[in-house]
Amino acid sequence: MRRTLGTCYYPEHWPREIWEEDARRMAEAGLTWVRIGEFAWKRIEPQPGQFDWQWLDEALDILGAVGLKVVLGTPTATPPRWMLSKHPDMLAVDAEGRPRRFGSRRHYCFSHQGYLEECRRIVTRMAERYGRNPHVAAWQTDNEYGCHDTVISYSDAARQAFRDWLAQRYQSPSALNRAWGNVFWSMEYDAFDEIDLPNLTVTEPNPAHALAFRRFSSDQVVAFNRAQTEIIRTYSEAPIAHNYMGREIAFDHFAVGADLDISSWDSYPLGFLEDRAGASPEIQRRYMRQGDPDFQAFHHDLYRAVGRGRWWVMEQQPGPVNWAPYNPAPLPGMVRLWTWEAFAHGAEAVCYFRWRQAPFAQEQMHSGLLRPDSADAPAMGEACEVAKELAERPDVAPRQAEVALLFDYDAAWAWDVQPHGAGLSYFGLVLDHYRALRRAGLSVDIVAPQSALDGYRLILAPGLMHMPEDLKARLEASGAEILIGPRSAARDGEFSIPIPLPPDFPGLDVTVSRVESLRPDMPVLLNGGGRIVGYLEELEGSAEPVLQTENGQIVAQRAGSVTYMGGLGDDAALDRLIADLALRAGIDTRVLPEGVRIRETGAERFWFNHNATDVATEIGTLPPAGVHIEALRGMPKSL
Ligand code: GAL
Repeated sequence: MRRTLGTCYYPEHWPREIWEEDARRMAEAGLTWVRIGEFAWKRIEPQPGQFDWQWLDEALDILGAVGLKVVLGTPTATPPRWMLSKHPDMLAVDAEGRPRRFGSRRHYCFSHQGYLEECRRIVTRMAERYGRNPHVAAWQTDNEYGCHDTVISYSDAARQAFRDWLAQRYQSPSALNRAWGNVFWSMEYDAFDEIDLPNLTVTEPNPAHALAFRRFSSDQVVAFNRAQTEIIRTYSEAPIAHNYMGREIAFDHFAVGADLDISSWDSYPLGFLEDRAGASPEIQRRYMRQGDPDFQAFHHDLYRAVGRGRWWVMEQQPGPVNWAPYNPAPLPGMVRLWTWEAFAHGAEAVCYFRWRQAPFAQEQMHSGLLRPDSADAPAMGEACEVAKELAERPDVAPRQAEVALLFDYDAAWAWDVQPHGAGLSYFGLVLDHYRALRRAGLSVDIVAPQSALDGYRLILAPGLMHMPEDLKARLEASGAEILIGPRSAARDGEFSIPIPLPPDFPGLDVTVSRVESLRPDMPVLLNGGGRIVGYLEELEGSAEPVLQTENGQIVAQRAGSVTYMGGLGDDAALDRLIADLALRAGIDTRVLPEGVRIRETGAERFWFNHNATDVATEIGTLPPAGVHIEALRGMPKSL
């Protein structure tokens, strides 16, 4: 596989006179890809039904003339103002019942049929016109589904669509009443038309109702995206991507990915560290200019799975951004490190967002490869450096990891609906396990619950609140060492506690008899090191105890190759657990220095130093933001 670079460009933001010069500089910098068009609806269709293609034709010609390949975005994340006059009820509605207004982006409701038709229309026109354009080498649908909290909408259109979805799923109100347990609080319905969306209730809605709405909302995104991919494929053979947003769990990315050829995500390491990586203030200070050492890697591995092996970074942070609570500049060398890290995880391309910093509008404080005055910004030097390094390195093939970590969007919604303790989240739980695997020097594949599990030696599936019987059976039959819990199989598919009580896992005599959530400042100490923080289960059964509290309460139990963990372990507890499981699975581990991480491809072992200081490692001293490539199986020289 070739590894390539690109950038995100908005020709409509700049005078026509500088487009040639921009294109020439992109090519000279060693970039292969340029993504355009994803916010340009108003310039493409200034008035309903009146199109202006000339500028886009020209931009494509100019970019293509210097050999750049274009990713053409469909502009459906930014419907123009005239759209709202045409469809006043197209706006998404928040949980308080307030419409989300025009004046930024992503204001549409996924369930609005009129807007969906408008999207079909613009995508058809674009695909007809550019589907065979030799410079259009890939497509991007919309932009960051879910960004700015935009999957869930409590609009009239969503209410109607939800009722239809429920009627399809349950067939009769009485079946729905039984499935949800609506006998409770006299919530039984006599008709689907009586069912509202689960917002503005006096106290919490039925969790089954809330989970159904989350599943429905996800399906709406899948259908919206599919409407676009079906049209594009009619006119074009170029691969189709979508650019997902980090830590976005409101829809099933695997399900959207099934309709794409390539998955991609938008990586903003410093923004994420401040905003969503869930890092402690101490970690935020330590990695302020480097970003969390695991957060990007986690998403790289996730989107490799979503893209069934084909994935990109569609937007890479090049310098300070505008949207986090604090927006520092990266440590020199980090833009290069982030880029190589993506390649180490199998990315085909990394595109920097954006080409030139815009002096106007919402993102005027967002850096680019160029300053607003067109001089090179610091990231340009690092991008050019990577381009040169790439030119000297051979192509690589990926390799399946020995460890798999399951990620399940349905579980994320279930935890959201019923966290049981403040701050408890499925995403946080999975990320904690991922971090522990990485501290042990392991390369990880993230897999969807429905994916094949063959070839793994160790499979971690923490926190899947609903575990279909076939998943339990596939895990058991995989031959791998398995870790499940906490909360595994704690609910059936309709959000009731199953009987026999969970986890009811084949061959494992463990029953969760009671659960408690704990104040995070009241951890429970484990015998031999580590603590349980925030959530603990009481376990019964004959399986062998693996971890116990200092008071002798059993926290983890094992039978054969299946281990059940009945609590949220802190880093030390998870490090112990992973070391033990890896040993049993016959996988070599390391204890890496703080902030140093490893990732292997089929031919290389990458070492990354996320620290702002030199760090001594087994392969020598790594400088700040250092990247070292070790050849596996006789590969050529290192960087
Ligand atoms: C992304 C988005 C881009 C831009 C960028 C700024 O979430 O896709 O359009 O807004 O953030 O960091």
